[in-house]
Amino acid sequence: MPYRIVKRKDLIPGQTVLMVVDAPMIAEKARPGNFVILRVNDHGERIPLTIADRDPAAGTITIVFLVVGKSTALLATLQEGEDILDVCGPLGRPTHIEKRKAVICVGGGTGIAAMHHIAKGHHEAGNRVVAVIGARNKDLLLFCDELGSFCPEVLVATDDGSRGHKGFVTEVLRKRLEEDKDIEEVVAIGPVPMMEAVAKVTKPFGVKTTVSLNSIMVDGIGMCGACRCTVDGHVRFACVDGPEFDGHAVDFQELRMRLGQFRCEEKQSFDQFKARS
Ligand SMILES: Cc1cc2nc3c(=O)[nH]c(=O)nc-3n(C[C@H](O)[C@H](O)[C@H](O)COP(=O)(O)OP(=O)(O)OC[C@H]3O[C@@H](n4cnc5c(N)ncnc54)[C@H](O)[C@@H]3O)c2cc1C
Ligand code: FES
Repeated sequence: MPYRIVKRKDLIPGQTVLMVVDAPMIAEKARPGNFVILRVNDHGERIPLTIADRDPAAGTITIVFLVVGKSTALLATLQEGEDILDVCGPLGRPTHIEKRKAVICVGGGTGIAAMHHIAKGHHEAGNRVVAVIGARNKDLLLFCDELGSFCPEVLVATDDGSRGHKGFVTEVLRKRLEEDKDIEEVVAIGPVPMMEAVAKVTKPFGVKTTVSLNSIMVDGIGMCGACRCTVDGHVRFACVDGPEFDGHAVDFQELRMRLGQFRCEEKQSFDQFKARS
């Protein structure tokens, strides 16, 4: 069954795309933390993407993706009114949301969009949510207005200081943890080095820290083993046991190694795609 793109927007031209996709059954069932796996065409690779938002009344889900290789570049060529061949979901375990005094949700780069749905879930549970978002510069910050609509505070860090704190989200996070003793949980979504750094910062504070692992996935239903990761010394499949795990227990070194294992093939395939288009 094809899935119609009802809205498409270049959030960052040539780099980051937002799509609102008609998928009523997924929109009804999706919870914060869930993801979908989609294919653009019959020969297409399976692309896992986090559900950044949903509108059950309109029957739509929102995805936001960074163009990093052949499959995301192909997806980005689709326009409003065109169809995605298939969208499978909602997949993964939803975010475990408990009543907390306050939660910090950290998002880096495209991870800000994925973090948005989780932050919204915590807000709807009655938790005070402080958003901490970061990017290389102010033009690369996503979802500032959306987060501002329900978070009492959106703290910003940019590498070049063009907006908010000049430096990393982890510096903003550490300061807030020192000042705000009501913070009972930290959630981080973004590049692997950022999530690893967040977990290092929160450890001495003893604050529960949840990270969302973007392991390489193929089937998304626990059969192929592609998304294997190690958490607390145990093998876990990110697609069915996660994608969210205790950040203090994840083997990030293994995750980084596994994410890079097809780099040559990915580069070759992207180069061929660019040469053809
Ligand atoms: C649960 C989950 C949720 C994700 N959510 C988002 C999101 O909301 N927005 C977003 O921009 N990206 C997200 N990603 C990453 C996204 O799936 C990859 O960027 C995409 O599959 C890359 O495909 P490609 O062919 O364009 O790039 P490729 O050239 O194939 O790969 C580029 C890099 O992307 C990663 N990658 C490649 N294939 C996969 C795969 N099958 N599964 C996971 N990672 C892969 C690898 O690190 C690789 O080095 C998510 C990944 C997972 C596992
Ligand atoms: S993607 Fe196949 S087991 Fe997780």
